[in-house]
Amino acid sequence: MTIALITGANKGIGLETARQLAAKGIHVLIGSRDAANGQAAAQKLQAEGYKADFIALDVSNEASIKQAAQTVNDRYGKLDILVNNAGIHPEFGQGIFSFEQMSLDLMMQIYQTNVFGPFMMIREFLPLLRRSEAGRIVNTSSSLGSLTEQSNPESPYYPVNTAGYNSSKTALNALTVQIAKQLTGTNIKINSACPGWVQTDMGTAAAPRTVQEGATIIVQLATLPNDGPNGGFFDENGAINW
Ligand SMILES: NC(=O)c1ccc[n+]([C@@H]2O[C@H](COP(=O)([O-])OP(=O)(O)OC[C@H]3O[C@@H](n4cnc5c(N)ncnc54)[C@H](OP(=O)(O)O)[C@@H]3O)[C@@H](O)[C@H]2O)c1
Repeated sequence: MTIALITGANKGIGLETARQLAAKGIHVLIGSRDAANGQAAAQKLQAEGYKADFIALDVSNEASIKQAAQTVNDRYGKLDILVNNAGIHPEFGQGIFSFEQMSLDLMMQIYQTNVFGPFMMIREFLPLLRRSEAGRIVNTSSSLGSLTEQSNPESPYYPVNTAGYNSSKTALNALTVQIAKQLTGTNIKINSACPGWVQTDMGTAAAPRTVQEGATIIVQLATLPNDGPNGGFFDENGAINW
């Protein structure tokens, strides 16, 4: 049985990623920091006929991550797929678009969830992924973290200047590159995915893409064949700019 853990899977792109992976016969673990929301999401997928279980997981909390790794070890003895999906983008909601408005506390909160969370998740779950025949890690990133797009005045991403979120996704991509090199020659692959601008609580109803479309590249990277890429950045059309 293939086991996949998706962080922040109680709603949005994370829940849809879990659904699409479950539709492939994969047993999905619904990571959620809120127990009621996580259980409700797992029950929704179970009612659709899928194998889904809730697992308590706050990616900003090291003890919570260690506990989740222990739970997965005790229940399943391995992990095949880790999707680092949980993320926050509080600057839009708070109307913060300049360095002067940005508190160190908010900057640290963004990095704690979007960068240190995936770092801790990968570190704690690597021993379980090493027991998989084909371990796959997907970091859910964004082209808002692309230095190439951000510095190109012709890019649609150029005007979107939420410095905390954007730079956190740049740092997440840097982690992908660093960890990929350490995983070369193993049966584990890690890649970054950009789902595009998606209709979720974060993306708002103004977004052009559905969660089904957004989850596509994440699911592809989570189920790569053994000759698939390691250490890249992709949307569903192929490699994209770092
Ligand atoms: N939507 C877009 O247009 C878009 C574009 C590019 C990239 N992305 C990325 O896609 C990922 C999913 O975003 P989304 O649009 O689905 O956002 P969303 O609807 O706001 O969902 C975010 C998820 O992350 C969870 N989360 C936040 N902090 C967490 C923490 N400390 N521990 C565990 N879970 C936590 C949330 O849990 P709660 O329900 O408890 O808050 C929620 O389940 C994010 O990494 C985001 O940066 C989104």
